[in-house]
Amino acid sequence: MNKKLYIKTYGCQMNVYDTERMEDVLAPLGYEMHGQPDDADLVILNTCHIREKAAEKVYSDLGRIKKKRKGRESIIAVGGCVGQAEGEQIMKRAPYVDMVFGPQTYQKLPQMLRDVEAKKGNVVELDFPAMQKFDELPQPGKPKAGTAFLSVQEGCDKFCTFCVVPYTRGAEYSRPVEKLLTEARILAAKGVVEVTLLGQNVNAYHGEDKHGKERGLGWLVREIANHVPEIKRIRYTTSHPRDMEDDLIAAHGELPQMMPYLHLPVQAGNDRVLKMMNRQHTAASYVEIIEKLRTTRPDIALSGDFIVGFPTETEEEFKDTLRLVETVGYAQAYSFKYSPRPGTPAAEKEQVPEGDKETRLALLQGLLNRQQETFNRNSVGKSFEILFEREGKYEGQLIGKSPYLQSVHVAGAKELGYKLGDLCEVKVVEAQPNSLAAEIVEVTPSSCGLTAGSRDIA
Ligand code: SAH
Ligand code: SF4
Ligand code: F3S
Repeated sequence: MNKKLYIKTYGCQMNVYDTERMEDVLAPLGYEMHGQPDDADLVILNTCHIREKAAEKVYSDLGRIKKKRKGRESIIAVGGCVGQAEGEQIMKRAPYVDMVFGPQTYQKLPQMLRDVEAKKGNVVELDFPAMQKFDELPQPGKPKAGTAFLSVQEGCDKFCTFCVVPYTRGAEYSRPVEKLLTEARILAAKGVVEVTLLGQNVNAYHGEDKHGKERGLGWLVREIANHVPEIKRIRYTTSHPRDMEDDLIAAHGELPQMMPYLHLPVQAGNDRVLKMMNRQHTAASYVEIIEKLRTTRPDIALSGDFIVGFPTETEEEFKDTLRLVETVGYAQAYSFKYSPRPGTPAAEKEQVPEGDKETRLALLQGLLNRQQETFNRNSVGKSFEILFEREGKYEGQLIGKSPYLQSVHVAGAKELGYKLGDLCEVKVVEAQPNSLAAEIVEVTPSSCGLTAGSRDIA
């Protein structure tokens, strides 16, 4: 009998990947994804602990779900990073929660469900067996529209002083090269043409090859490009400046599959602040990496993460962040007010007043938004290949991603025979702050990486 499954995903792409894999784990038990929690048989909140707001949202969502849930049969579970960080405390605050688990134990969901159903009381599963998890997970299920995440590395050993990830995801672990090639082939056979390699520190990847030798991310992307020819586009996220090795930078110049886009968080532009953050790089060493990347791949688009108002950060030190942003020039970025997290060293330090954080964030976001608009405006008139990922608002419209990860709206794409998952050469005709509009360039099979028969008309 089919059962209704509702999963809400918070936080980063690792959680998006985990949610998809939870669906795969639960499918053999008859669970199918369902649009809303009210009448679901199983509700899972796949949570994020990175900032206070994200973590607190879980409790307000839980309250709402409890109120609306019909009858007592439904099972409520909290998974992900809040599950890992808060464990049994969750059941103290929300006693109606049946299960709590962390990011490394969801492969055990069938057993946890059996225990809950056998009324063994509440179930808490908080181990850290990353290796075991990947060995026990089933094959990936149906991918969404030509693109898929592939988790290659988990956890973090960097211990930036503001961050909970090393505590919620555990120590760094890299999956072996051969297993990843197998998974990439399975995805390719299901129609995937783009993979995004995932890890909290993806470029710290150091998985074993078939001879037991440790290899870096540069090696892995070359293996995928050489051995899985159906994969036309390779992306990876999130990288750390410390691990941006020359071999990986070189791959951006050598492999047409490597997309000209890099998310490389810097957090701040002042060296004293970076040191207090335990980032293990300076503003200058970060800029040096960017210069190397641009020498190798001049059109590479850059994205970053920033934190304003880290404990003791002064006005002048914050201005160094603005200067760094001016120097680099970002295509896109994420910026946050520092949020003290329990158990992290920075939470104990002297805090910056909330008002100052807000002023700094507004200034930084203003600058980053202007840079993004400029980047998008400069795309007008350019031609490139996009991958259609979702339906647009208007009849026949499809929305794809440019090599630089911009959203590209194409009117009438369906009438020309395109569908989700297709690659297509387009010319940009208009730029908005957050997206582009484009027209399809001459429809020829050679310009669209399509196989014969995958399109209705030529
Ligand atoms: N592994 C990645 C990103 C981890 S979390 C990296 O190393 O860069 C994503 C982003 O959240 C971080 O890059 C950081 O900018 C932000 N972040 C992490 N902890 C935070 C905190 N306590 N307050 C505000 N932002 C935070
Ligand atoms: Fe967090 Fe730093 Fe690790 Fe990134 S590198 S996950 S910011 S501790
Ligand atoms: Fe959040 Fe966990 Fe990702 S804390 S950002 S979901 S690793």
